Amino acid sequence: MDFVAEINALRKEKNAVILAHYYQIPEIQDIADYIGDSLALARRAAETDADIILFAGVHFMAETAKILNPDKKVLLPDMEAGCSLADSCDADELAKMKSELPGYKVLSYVNCSAKVKALSDVICTSGNALKIVESFPKDEKILFVPDRNLGAYINRETGRSMKLWQGSCQIHDILDAERIVKMKVSNPNAKLIAHPECNPAVLGIADFVGSTAAMLNFIVKDSSREYIVATETGIVHQMQKLCPSKKFYVAGNSETCACNDCPHMKRNTMEKLYLCLKNETPEISLDKDLIEKAKVPIQTMLRLS
Ligand code: 13P
Repeated sequence: MDFVAEINALRKEKNAVILAHYYQIPEIQDIADYIGDSLALARRAAETDADIILFAGVHFMAETAKILNPDKKVLLPDMEAGCSLADSCDADELAKMKSELPGYKVLSYVNCSAKVKALSDVICTSGNALKIVESFPKDEKILFVPDRNLGAYINRETGRSMKLWQGSCQIHDILDAERIVKMKVSNPNAKLIAHPECNPAVLGIADFVGSTAAMLNFIVKDSSREYIVATETGIVHQMQKLCPSKKFYVAGNSETCACNDCPHMKRNTMEKLYLCLKNETPEISLDKDLIEKAKVPIQTMLRLS
């Protein structure tokens, strides 16, 4: 079957928009109406006038789109496409911690469930985290959930001392600084660019730290010809498209392991996209009350960034 032709016909017939994250497989990135980082995709979801949003990403991203568009149909090609960070923060545990920390504001990284968002004062993404934190008074007491690596990075960059939930991303956290140093020795002209979900040892030796979109901007503007890329492998497709003459080496944690292929992001396939659009399922559905509560901190984020 020609999935590209079939998906094109269906999206036209159903007035559907396809939003895809940079970590999707190249074919999905190429067929998307919009491709972006979490922040750009949330913005697109807030603005769209399509009847159906087909979200080629993971569950929390599609949930965010649904929260911003309760009356639209939001589809996720594979309901099992989760996120280790979102899984690491249980809403009941967060509610308990909140009750033990009176006076604290809860700042949640967008990689969390709708229930966790509903317990939060404001949401951030890796693209706007520093700006959102700086919008709080210097002495504000903040609990940051769920990514300890991003939280520690923000603390270092802003001089804050936010309390950190101890979650991490399964693919960024395991990237190994020692192996990256070896890659740097073999490729002395390559700059290391890293996502802030990486562990502090990797971030400490990075030439540039930023969200997926910030990394793409960096490689376009920067004069180097070679980069070691410390994030999920899918982004290299966009890097190669934007800068065909530059070289990109994916940072792994061994010669043989594809550990930074996110198993959740990579659950989406062209066939699943086609079936999802054709059958209009799996669909994200959320309780009305939960949507109302979770929408407030997301809208605060969109306003602040
Ligand atoms: P970005 O916001 O940089 O796209 O990151 C999304 C993500 O889930 C990283 O693991």
